[in-house]
Amino acid sequence: MLTLLKLLADGEFHSGEVLGEELGISRSAVWKQLQQMVAELGVEVHKVRGRGYRLANALSLHDVAVIQAAGTPPGWSVVALESVDSTNAEAARLIASDIALPALVVAERQTAGRGRRGRQWISPFAENLYFSVLLRIEGGMRQLEGLSLLVGLAVVEVLRETGVAAAGLKWPNDILVGRRKLAGILLELMGDPADVCHVVIGVGINVNMQQAAEVDQAWTSVRLETGRLSDRNVLAGRLAERLQMHLARHQRDGFSAFQDEWERNHLWQGREVSLLSGVERIEGVVLGIDALGALRLEVNGVEKSFSGGELSLRLRDDS
Ligand code: BTN
Repeated sequence: MLTLLKLLADGEFHSGEVLGEELGISRSAVWKQLQQMVAELGVEVHKVRGRGYRLANALSLHDVAVIQAAGTPPGWSVVALESVDSTNAEAARLIASDIALPALVVAERQTAGRGRRGRQWISPFAENLYFSVLLRIEGGMRQLEGLSLLVGLAVVEVLRETGVAAAGLKWPNDILVGRRKLAGILLELMGDPADVCHVVIGVGINVNMQQAAEVDQAWTSVRLETGRLSDRNVLAGRLAERLQMHLARHQRDGFSAFQDEWERNHLWQGREVSLLSGVERIEGVVLGIDALGALRLEVNGVEKSFSGGELSLRLRDDS
């Protein structure tokens, strides 16, 4: 099915006969594959008598060579999949293989994309970037300190360079434009953090998506912000490159080296917020983050720090 999709990806008309010849199958088998493609991947195909078939919208599919050429550090493995439950889950499965690490996994779509706090990450075919990196970490809790915030910083920088000038961070690691979500990060840890462990860094970026009724929060995409289609392969390569730079600096200097830079990119510095943890709600003013990436809030005139994956921040006037 992917071969057929690649033949149609240019958005031009292709006759059933020519497609059949290229695939070595009959015209009716081409028709069956097309129907399957529409049903499974949700792509729209136009059929015009005498001209053949074409995709309603041209597609640019993942290409490992382009991802590598766009900045992926030499030595990183790159795996591009057509469909997967979750790129984070796939990256975790690679721990049992002998693949060279770090390993980057991207997919055209996820059937069970994972978000933070048990939420689903909507992952339509060939529109967005679903990106996970598997790292092996040896004997260093320090290498985990502030790691998800550091990833957020790398994502924001790459998105700004891609033309989304207003992209910024919301603690701990959401990427927003105004109040709309552009990208999210989910880190998953396997093994013993005090000894040898593996970390999967999962990043979802809304790239070319223009509509998605299923997304249950305010969102935007690179395309909606810039008015242009973006190449997901180039974005993936640039992000891999920036991540590697930041990871190397983090290993050398610790998270405190990123503290100021992170705060400069924090959209909610100085804002009145509510911090939600289950049924508990804490009201305060954002002072910034500490050297480990914990959120510093002024609560009733006293500075307090908060950290943990289950916390969620809202602007006070939103709640
Ligand atoms: C969030 O809720 O903000 C985090 C979203 C993280 C989504 C990405 S998409 C690639 C990777 N694979 C997953 O299943 N989740 C992450």
